Amino acid sequence: MTAHSPRIQTSLPGPKCKAMRERETPHLAPGFQAIAAHSGIVVDHGEGCEIVDLDGNRFLDLVAGICVAALGYGHKRYVAALSDQMARTHCGSFTTEARVKALEQVHEVAPRHLTRLQLYSGGSEAVESAIRLARCHTGKTEVLSFWGGFHGKTSGTLAQMGSDFKHGLGPLAPGSYLTPYADCDFCPFRTTYPACGLLCVDFAREKIKRETTHRVAAILIEPMQGTAGNVIPPREFLQAVAALAKELGALLICDEMICGFGRTGKMFGHLHAGVEPDMLTLGKALGGGFPVSGLLVREDVAKAEPWSKPSFSSSSYGGNPLAGAAIGASLSIIRDERLVENAAATGEHLKLGLARLAEHHPALAHVRGEGLFIGFDLLDERGALWSHARCRELFTACLKRGLLTMAYAPRVRVNPPLLFNVAQADEALNILDAALTDVRA
Ligand SMILES: Cc1ncc(COP(=O)(O)O)c(C=O)c1O
Repeated sequence: MTAHSPRIQTSLPGPKCKAMRERETPHLAPGFQAIAAHSGIVVDHGEGCEIVDLDGNRFLDLVAGICVAALGYGHKRYVAALSDQMARTHCGSFTTEARVKALEQVHEVAPRHLTRLQLYSGGSEAVESAIRLARCHTGKTEVLSFWGGFHGKTSGTLAQMGSDFKHGLGPLAPGSYLTPYADCDFCPFRTTYPACGLLCVDFAREKIKRETTHRVAAILIEPMQGTAGNVIPPREFLQAVAALAKELGALLICDEMICGFGRTGKMFGHLHAGVEPDMLTLGKALGGGFPVSGLLVREDVAKAEPWSKPSFSSSSYGGNPLAGAAIGASLSIIRDERLVENAAATGEHLKLGLARLAEHHPALAHVRGEGLFIGFDLLDERGALWSHARCRELFTACLKRGLLTMAYAPRVRVNPPLLFNVAQADEALNILDAALTDVRA
């Protein structure tokens, strides 16, 4: 046991984890998720909001597989539902009771005007489908998205990505336009909300006027930006973007892959702004970790051809019986265990705790969040974001105390499973406090 914490039994990575990684490394292609690479963890199993590695070290999880493990790990009802379905049948596109129930359950929680759901297996695939459908419905081709936005890594979604992830990967799909998001802590116009009068939306309008052929099929937006650092825009921003889409006769696609199903303390992220999107892309919590995503659309939009012709909107794995069972179990658990309400209450506690930490640790700044979708920035004395090397020190200091974080980048995202409770939030805050003190020393 180290001096740090009873969570951690060995040096990190422990001997069994190290040996297993050594077997994997020569065969696994590079480029897998940063957190897996940096942590060196080899997972033995998970329990609730904890991951247990091969050496018996237990990590409290502030990451949740980047919002995928909304129900945490090893949830008995979820495991039973998937095991049961596996024993019956697991693949194919025929109607199954599991899929019928899944569709009914999504319908129960979805905005009333969004009636039709098509299922896929990954987020990018759902966003690609949304773009195809927007083109079919409007007869137009161009798409506007936002700086900092992340919608996947396929060719179409890459062109809508507002970060340097796409560098070196051109040419990008034509007809794709990007404009600043209301990331007010780092406003590119150096203005301040609300005095700015949402200059970013005025800029987007001008951009469309001057740069496009005025054939905008869709505006694609994360209601709150995940990959950019769990960024929360003012609610008027999404309202103004929705109004702009209307002006242009374009569809508003809200990418709810991360924000959906309770993460932000409401069922969907866009509900915080009270807008009515034409389409939602869904995933992550939707299947509680099973790879299922979805595109939820207006009745009239879903009819557009050729998207709606037989086999035009489908995919190999989309809506298979296991996916149906996963959605059914995930949404039942979210409802029965009141996880949306829990995200709102525990998230508020965690956010207030982080704000208190910021009073003692000047490096911790810009605490923001809704529900269990929380972010903060790591800043140096001059107000610049920490280098990745400095972030890694904090990440490692947390890990050594048994806390798994996304502090390996300076815009830190905090998004534990939706089951996270107040005691776990307090433990995470204590560890972060100690780790920040370590790093400062
Ligand atoms: C908002 C959003 N959209 C789309 C995606 C892409 O999903 P996938 O990695 O399953 O393709 C992600 C992935 O993190 C995401 O956060």
